[in-house]
Amino acid sequence: MESMIRDIHLAPQGQLKLDWVAAHMPLLNQIKNNYEKELPFRGKKVVICLHLEAKTGYLGQVIKAGGADVCMVASNPLSTQDDVVAALVDSGIQVHAWYNATDEEYKMHLHRGLDFHPDLVIDDGGDLVSTLHKERPQQLTEIIGGCEETTTGILRLRAMEKDGTLNFPMVAVNDAFCKYLFDNRYGTGQSVWDGINRTTNLVVAGKTVVVAGYGWCGKGVAMRAKGLGARVIVTEVDPIKVIEAIMDGFTVLTMEEAAPLGDFFITVTGNVDVIRKEHLAVIKDQAILANAGHFDVEVSKKDLSALAVSKLRVRNNIEEYVLKDGRKIYLLAEGRLVNLAAGDGHPAEIMDMTFALQALSLQYIFEHRDELSPHVYEVPREIDQKVAAMKLHTLGVKIDNLTEQQKKYLAGWEN
Ligand SMILES: NC(=O)c1ccc[n+]([C@@H]2O[C@H](COP(=O)([O-])OP(=O)(O)OC[C@H]3O[C@@H](n4cnc5c(N)ncnc54)[C@H](O)[C@@H]3O)[C@@H](O)[C@H]2O)c1
Repeated sequence: MESMIRDIHLAPQGQLKLDWVAAHMPLLNQIKNNYEKELPFRGKKVVICLHLEAKTGYLGQVIKAGGADVCMVASNPLSTQDDVVAALVDSGIQVHAWYNATDEEYKMHLHRGLDFHPDLVIDDGGDLVSTLHKERPQQLTEIIGGCEETTTGILRLRAMEKDGTLNFPMVAVNDAFCKYLFDNRYGTGQSVWDGINRTTNLVVAGKTVVVAGYGWCGKGVAMRAKGLGARVIVTEVDPIKVIEAIMDGFTVLTMEEAAPLGDFFITVTGNVDVIRKEHLAVIKDQAILANAGHFDVEVSKKDLSALAVSKLRVRNNIEEYVLKDGRKIYLLAEGRLVNLAAGDGHPAEIMDMTFALQALSLQYIFEHRDELSPHVYEVPREIDQKVAAMKLHTLGVKIDNLTEQQKKYLAGWEN
């Protein structure tokens, strides 16, 4: 099938972006070299549904180097980079995606990906896998298994597993140590601020930043806000995370208390309606709202529209809502994840670890297909350890090893 992209003539520009990230992703380079020799996915069809930018594009090329036929579709309508997908098509990968797809186009692209009849899938957020189960049940038996990238997608997979709907094994890549400790925390922490800063061109020092959700992503966003000189308020629903936030030095308030105080609000909960009408009723004039959670449901756009008398695009990726009492509220990137919809996503070196996990986990699921059943699996500990060891090697860091005596001491109880 023909690819469906915006403009193939953008390929040279996209190729430069791919070359740049490849130069900063040594783990993927090493895996690609091995794959070119071993061809672990020879003859298999892989559909990859991720934010389509340079780093994910390079992952697609690595899987292709392993002998697979690869098709890529977008996991979000606002994060596709048209030049990168043009370069991917030029390199022999089928792509169905373009920047700013409508909801109908986004769905159509997912379906065109499924028309590729994958044997293996990589998903981010669960839209591909849930469309397969809901709308393509006849294809379910064709699927060997796949990998899921993010927290929200894993929640959806576990819900499917619980009610007995999940039809093939999936590896929860997000839950590997080498994923959430670095990608969710340091990746989101840096790239969210990169997205907000380049979009707003405003100062953060001395302002009040409200971070909703103190999970792995929220910790990173709050930590970097503090580093930029902001006063940071956290909102949470989990008492344990609240204690953690307090001990990390942050003020914890309810969203209702925080709403009149914040200059920047960043939702990163994976939940719905975290900022809604009762908060918007008291929110500070000129507040800037951004979301970093997977779906554009954390700031209620319905409530924002209902309270507004006018809405205007005042800058690329900034919508100004004027409320009845004259307060102005600014929503970034239509409430979609700001680091990807209004930025380039996480740094390449961080995604290098995440995508090394993706490639090795996909290989694992393929090679262990006869032992696995339709469940959500953890990334095997050996793969997590291997990625950590590869990373340390590229950093040139040596570490101590346990002596025989130390191993014995740790394994004993009579000492
Ligand atoms: N922007 C990105 O690049 C990026 C990267 C990784 C993950 N994500 C997405 O970010 C979201 C969060 O991921 P995570 O790994 O931090 O998850 P997590 O489960 O570690 O943290 C989420 C936190 O939000 C809290 N929470 C839930 N509802 C809340 C509410 N109403 N108010 C305040 N807090 C609430 C939870 O108690 C939890 O502590 C997910 O949707 C995930 O898919 C985005």
